[in-house]
Amino acid sequence: MPIFPTDRPKISRLIVTGAAGGIGRMIRGRLDHLADEVVLSDRTDIHVSGNEVSRPCDLTDLNAVRGVLRGGGDILHFGGQSLEAPFETIRDANLIGTYNLYEAARLEGIRRILFASSNHAIGFHPREARLDADSPTRPDTLYGVSKVYGEAMARLYYEKFGIESLILRIGSIAPKPADQRQLATWMSVEDTIRLFGRMIHVTRLGCPIVYGMSDNAEAWWDNRQTAYLGWHPQDSAEDWRADTPDDGWHPDEPKARYQGGVFVTHPHPGTEEGT
Ligand SMILES: NC(=O)c1ccc[n+]([C@@H]2O[C@H](COP(=O)([O-])OP(=O)(O)OC[C@H]3O[C@@H](n4cnc5c(N)ncnc54)[C@H](O)[C@@H]3O)[C@@H](O)[C@H]2O)c1
Repeated sequence: MPIFPTDRPKISRLIVTGAAGGIGRMIRGRLDHLADEVVLSDRTDIHVSGNEVSRPCDLTDLNAVRGVLRGGGDILHFGGQSLEAPFETIRDANLIGTYNLYEAARLEGIRRILFASSNHAIGFHPREARLDADSPTRPDTLYGVSKVYGEAMARLYYEKFGIESLILRIGSIAPKPADQRQLATWMSVEDTIRLFGRMIHVTRLGCPIVYGMSDNAEAWWDNRQTAYLGWHPQDSAEDWRADTPDDGWHPDEPKARYQGGVFVTHPHPGTEEGT
């Protein structure tokens, strides 16, 4: 049953980039209630079943991306470099790749995209800060900078061409929190799928910034500005607290002080320690 009477119904086509990656593997097989056909794309072919089809392409190749997007549909854009890396790697996958994705979407008439941004776009905010969609970005890595760029790209294509994007600043999507930091940043797979549903079904999406977290007690982020989406996370990291290992970090260490965790202390690529 739709939450709002005017909700868009099930769509005919949903395209997932980065479908062979960690998140792609967690959401696979859980999307058929959202779309008649689920198009899985990554650099190499993916073994498919049910209503899935595999359409490999490299995001650095605009024509290849256009080929995958031809036929329309909404996009879950998870493809790209997901950790700190030398600039050239970030540039190819996340700068050129994100431009190609949005430009191909414009050329192929796509209207709605989820852009997988990251908490590392705001990783240098201290953990005591409560952030919302208007908080300034403070990337903690070159990777985080590429996510700020991707968010700006999403916004440009919304203002100029009306392509709606849900900018998801993902905390940590995982079956359960892996460490103390993830007691704040964890986003369950089920809450993630619920959010996809809202992105697809809501009548007007716009271009919201949503912090990707479950209903965690220890939250650093405030999603009240995007209440209109009707997304209500139902899981909580608190249920896993007793099973979550202690980091053994002193609270004054930068990785314990800042929201980005260990990313704030990653050696910078190109420096002696970072290569
Ligand atoms: N996992 C998390 O909790 C988390 C947190 C914050 C942000 N994110 C973002 O979500 C997205 C998915 O994360 P993930 O953990 O699944 O990452 P991942 O590294 O496991 O998967 C990324 C996928 O993108 C593909 N890819 C990379 N470069 C490509 C290219 N040039 N062309 C086509 N495909 C390419 C890779 O082959 C890989 O399968 C990433 O954009 C990441 O930055 C994830």
